Amino acid sequence: MEEENNRAEKQIIADIVSGQTSEEVIQHLNNPVTDLKPIVKQYLTKVKGVKKEGNKFYFSDGSARVEVRVVSDEIIRVRLAPHGVFLTDFSYAVEVVDQKVTTFRLEEYDDYYSISTNTITCKVNKEDFLVSFIDNLTGIVMSQDSQPMHWEENVEFGGFYVFGTKKCLPEENFFGLGDKSGNMNLRGRKFQNWNTDAYSFGWDQDPLYRTIPFYIGIHQAASYGIFFDNTFRSYFDFGKENHDKTSFWADGGELQYYYIHGPHMMDVLKRYQTLTGTHQLPPKWALGFHQCRWSYYPENKVREIAENFRANQIPCDAIYLDIDYMDGYRCFTWNKKYFPDPKKMIKDLLNIGMKTVVMIDPGIKVDDNYWVFKEGKENNYFCRRSDDYFMEGHVWPGRCQFPDFTNPTVREWWGGLYKELVELGVAGVWNDMNEPAVFGTGTFPNDVRHDYDGYRGSHRKAHNVYGMQMVRSTYDGLKKLMRNKRPFTITRAGYSGMQRYACVWTGDNVATWEHLKLGNIQCQRMSISGVPFCGTDIGGFSGEPDGELFTRWIQLGTFSPFMRAHSAGDTAEREPWSFGEPFTAINRKFIELRYRLMPYIYSVFWEHYKHGFPILRPLAMLEQENISNHFRQDEFTFGDKILVC
Ligand code: NOJ
Repeated sequence: MEEENNRAEKQIIADIVSGQTSEEVIQHLNNPVTDLKPIVKQYLTKVKGVKKEGNKFYFSDGSARVEVRVVSDEIIRVRLAPHGVFLTDFSYAVEVVDQKVTTFRLEEYDDYYSISTNTITCKVNKEDFLVSFIDNLTGIVMSQDSQPMHWEENVEFGGFYVFGTKKCLPEENFFGLGDKSGNMNLRGRKFQNWNTDAYSFGWDQDPLYRTIPFYIGIHQAASYGIFFDNTFRSYFDFGKENHDKTSFWADGGELQYYYIHGPHMMDVLKRYQTLTGTHQLPPKWALGFHQCRWSYYPENKVREIAENFRANQIPCDAIYLDIDYMDGYRCFTWNKKYFPDPKKMIKDLLNIGMKTVVMIDPGIKVDDNYWVFKEGKENNYFCRRSDDYFMEGHVWPGRCQFPDFTNPTVREWWGGLYKELVELGVAGVWNDMNEPAVFGTGTFPNDVRHDYDGYRGSHRKAHNVYGMQMVRSTYDGLKKLMRNKRPFTITRAGYSGMQRYACVWTGDNVATWEHLKLGNIQCQRMSISGVPFCGTDIGGFSGEPDGELFTRWIQLGTFSPFMRAHSAGDTAEREPWSFGEPFTAINRKFIELRYRLMPYIYSVFWEHYKHGFPILRPLAMLEQENISNHFRQDEFTFGDKILVC
C-alpha cells in the first residue's frame, strides 16, 4: 500500500513538473493536505530495555512501548503504545484476559530477549524490535514479524493507523476471518472488516455483515492463530500485496493482538474460544427445521403454513414473523389488523408444536405517539452526532433514531422491552439490520458518538460492535424474562465474541448454484472462526430456485448447524412442498433425517459449548498435515462422526 501511494505521489509530482493538468493533479493542487496524505509511518527502533510487572513485560525503544503479556501457556498478547501510553484495556470480545499459566520466565541474550512458557517462546530482537513466536517442542518459528510494528498519526481524528506485518512463508495457508465470501483458503487475498448490509452479495465480495479479526495460519504441518482485537475498520492481507508478507492494520485503536498456539488447528480454535467464549447450549427446538419468509401475514396465512407442515407430515419447530407483523414497522408493536390476537395465535401454534420467532430491528421510528420512541427520547438513549444532533436515518419505518447499544443502561432498557413479547409466548428473537444498516447512506456517519461502556468513542470505533451489543442486550433481556428457559436469538451483524449471545445466518444470499456452494464454505468458515451456530437462507433469499436447487439446499441445510428456509417478499412462496413431487418427498426425508440425528446434533453442540469444538469441520482441520486438504472446501464433517460430501 505504501509503495502504491508513493508511486501515485511520484506520478502526480512528475505530472505537475511536466505541466500536465489531469483531474488528479488539479485536485491535488487545490487540496494538497487531505487529497494525498504524505505517508509518515513510524517504526519501532532498537529495544532500549525491558521491565517486568507480573505476567506483563514492557519493552521500550525510548519512546514507544510494547507490552507482552503471558495469558496462558499457549497464548501471548502483544500491545503497542506508539508514544508510550497504552489505551485503556477494554474489549467487547475478551471478557477475561488472564488464564492459567504454569510457569514463565524472561531471559536476555546478546541479540534478543525471550519470554517462555512451557509451550511457547516469544522472542523480541534487540536491534530491530522484531517479535517472533516459537514452538518449544519442535523449534518451529510459527509467526515472525517481517517489519517492526508501525503506525501513522491520524491528523483528522487523532490516534493512529496501526500496522503489524508478519512473514508469509511460501507454503503457508490461511483460514478463518469469519464472514468472508469466496474460497476457504485465504492465501493471496486482502480483506476489510466493516460490518455491511450486503444484499445479494457476490463470490469474493468484501466486506460482509460481520467482523471477526481472527485467522489461523498453517505451515510445516503446524497451526497458530492471530486475533487482532481491534474494532475499528481493519484490514488483512495474506500475501497479496507482497507474496512474502501477511499484514493486518486498522484505522484507529491499538495494535493489540493475541498469538494463539496450536500446533493443531483445533487447538488454536479451542484456545481462541477460551478468550472469546463459546455458544451457550441452545434450546433443543432451535436445532430443528425452521420456516421463515419475508413475511408470513396475516394470522391466517401463518396458521395455514403451520398446519400444512402437519398435513404434509414434515417436521418443523419454528415459524418466523418478519417485519410485517409490526404496526408500521414499529418494533415491539403488533399490526392488530393482521394479528388481532397474537397470544391466541402463538398458543395455537404451540399446540401443534410450532414456536414463534419474531424480528426486531434497531431503527426506532421518530414518532412522539410511540412509547418506545418516547422512552428512548426522554431518557436520552438514542445516538447523537458530534454536534449533538440526533443520528437520524431512514429504515423500514421511515425516519428513525437508533439506541446506543454500547451504553449498558440502554442495553438494560432494550432487554426489558421484550417483556410483552415474552408474555405473549414468543420463543425467539431475530435481530436484523444491525450493522447498523441505513437506507441511502449504508450506515451511520463516522462522527456519531457512542458510550462504548464508558470508554467513549465515535462510530469509527463502535460500528463493528454495534450489532453484537444489540443482540447481547436482546439475549440478556430474554434470559431474565424467560427465567429458566434458554433464549434463542439470531443476529445479522456481530464482532468476535458474538457467539456468546446469538446464532447467525449468512444474510441476503441468492437462489443460485454458486450461492449453494458459497453458503457451504461460509458456514464452515464461520464455524472455524468461533461462530458455530450458523446457517444460510435455505433456497436463497433473492431470486427463484427450481425444485432441484431447493432440495439440494435442504440437503445441505440438514447438515448446517442452523437450518432455516427463508425468502424475500418478491419471490414465489417457498415451503418444502412448494415444488411438488418428487421434491416434497425428498425434502421430507432429509428434514426427517435431521430429526433422527437430533441426539447426535445436541451432543455435538454440548461438546462445542463445553470445550469449544466447532460443529462443522473442514478437511484442513481434520488432517492439516495433508496440504491438498488446505484447498478442499466441498466436504466437511458435521461433528466428529459424519462426513458430508
Ligand atoms: C434483511 C434481512 O437480511 C432479511 O432476512 C429480512 O427478510 C429483511 N431484512 C426484511 O426484514
